[in-house]
Amino acid sequence: MALAGILVSIFFVLVGHLIFKIVVPPLNFPRNIPTIPFYVIFLPTIFNIDQTKLYDMYLREPLEKHGAAKIFFGSRWNIIVTRPELMAHVFREEDTFAKSGNQKKIPYAVIAAYTGDNVISAHGQVWRTYRSVVTNGLQHFDDKPFYKNAELFCNGIEKLRRKTPESASMGPLIQRLCLDNISEVALGFDFGALTQDDNQLHKHLIDIKKQIFHPMYLTFPFLDLLPIPARRKAFKDVASFREQLVTKIQDNLVTNYKFEQTSFASSDLIRAHNNEIINYQQLTDNIVIILVAGHENPQVLLTTSLYLLGKHPALQQKIRAEVQDVNDSKELSELPFLNSFIFEAIRLFPPLNIIINRKTTKACRLGPEIVIPKDTYVGYNNFGTSHDPKVWGPNADQFDPTRWGEDNETILKNWKHAKNAYTMTAFHGGRRACLGEKLALTEMRVTIAEVLRQYKWTLASDWEERMTPAGPLSPSNLKLNFESCSDAI
Ligand code: HEM
Repeated sequence: MALAGILVSIFFVLVGHLIFKIVVPPLNFPRNIPTIPFYVIFLPTIFNIDQTKLYDMYLREPLEKHGAAKIFFGSRWNIIVTRPELMAHVFREEDTFAKSGNQKKIPYAVIAAYTGDNVISAHGQVWRTYRSVVTNGLQHFDDKPFYKNAELFCNGIEKLRRKTPESASMGPLIQRLCLDNISEVALGFDFGALTQDDNQLHKHLIDIKKQIFHPMYLTFPFLDLLPIPARRKAFKDVASFREQLVTKIQDNLVTNYKFEQTSFASSDLIRAHNNEIINYQQLTDNIVIILVAGHENPQVLLTTSLYLLGKHPALQQKIRAEVQDVNDSKELSELPFLNSFIFEAIRLFPPLNIIINRKTTKACRLGPEIVIPKDTYVGYNNFGTSHDPKVWGPNADQFDPTRWGEDNETILKNWKHAKNAYTMTAFHGGRRACLGEKLALTEMRVTIAEVLRQYKWTLASDWEERMTPAGPLSPSNLKLNFESCSDAI
């Protein structure tokens, strides 16, 4: 009886301790920045709230006032920043705010097994090695596949139009396009997602993504420690996808004797592996991250771009006229309406909204006044920075491409300035700036121009206008109503 009493008491103490750790931030966290209520992070899972609405309801006021706040996310309390001076501090002091991705934060989780230790999440010398290997292939690439795939994408729109006139569901088609683009441009093989309906690798990817991004396991990653059969299966499926992907790339490049002549990011990674600069696990981790970052982020941005153009028909027409006879990446990059539109789409809806993957290596100051203990996770909220009137003026919430300037030179100068001033952090910045920005912008320009030449579109009348509840920020399950430009003549 006495033993049962002790056990019950221990149980209640443990549960009480756990609840306390979730509800209240650690006592050594800074007191001079606000605390976002712990339950906010659970609301999208329960009520499916649009994440921009959630921001307005719970995060906007404290973040605009203080530029930083304490937030419960990924099973722990963290600090997120939005104010550019604080972002600059975090991004520049790489050794104090050290990258610490899922492979370190939640190494036991399925999501960590998927992308491993890679160029985005690694720190220090290991990161420098990865970055030096993949930079050339991601910066200097052949953009021809973008043109071919943009045409296949338009064929896909035509098929959707025939199947569901007036309401084309865009998600799956955009994903296919972005998979084929990154695999052909950076990985040296054709994923075949646009050309083969029954593509096994694509099916496998869709299947593992469902398992990885299950909201419950994303919110409570520690559940992956338990012997839950569905999660054991998820680990197995992820491992087999990774293996298939790398084998396919190696077969295509090495077995076809193309390997020595190619300069894809993947061939540079294979060479680094052959020269024992990286091991097989690191080769796989980096190939997977190029596939993941290289298709998911452009997928999100293209969805947002097609949505905004569908919502603003006059602007759509203006850009259509501008791209009409331009079919060369350099010339496309010199078009002011197209550029200012894409930059504004990124500002208004940064594809990666909230990123928390840095950990303090010592007790430190953030800005002049915020003192942060060692081992604290610190992150940033891109939507917060780009919607703050103190940063972007009183019309920060409005879609206004003209804010970037009228002529292309000014527009590009303002884009560069915003990145250097950390008022535009959608592609990070500084030494850890995104290596795929140029690739993604080229992909957007080529694709948007081709779709504009072939189609006019509006938002489908049966589509509820809302953004995703959590994760990457984009219109949720976007549906569009297309009309062929040749029909319209
Ligand atoms: C719209 C498209 C894209 C957006 C908005 C975007 C955004 C970002 C952001 C925010 C980061 C920093 C992540 C962090 O803080 O941990 C990043 C890093 C990175 N991105 Fe992108 N990205 C895009 C497209 C791409 C593409 C197409 C690739 C090609 C593979 C790519 C490759 C990378 C790499 C390699 C890094 C790591 C850089 C480093 O830490 O050295 N990204 N990206």
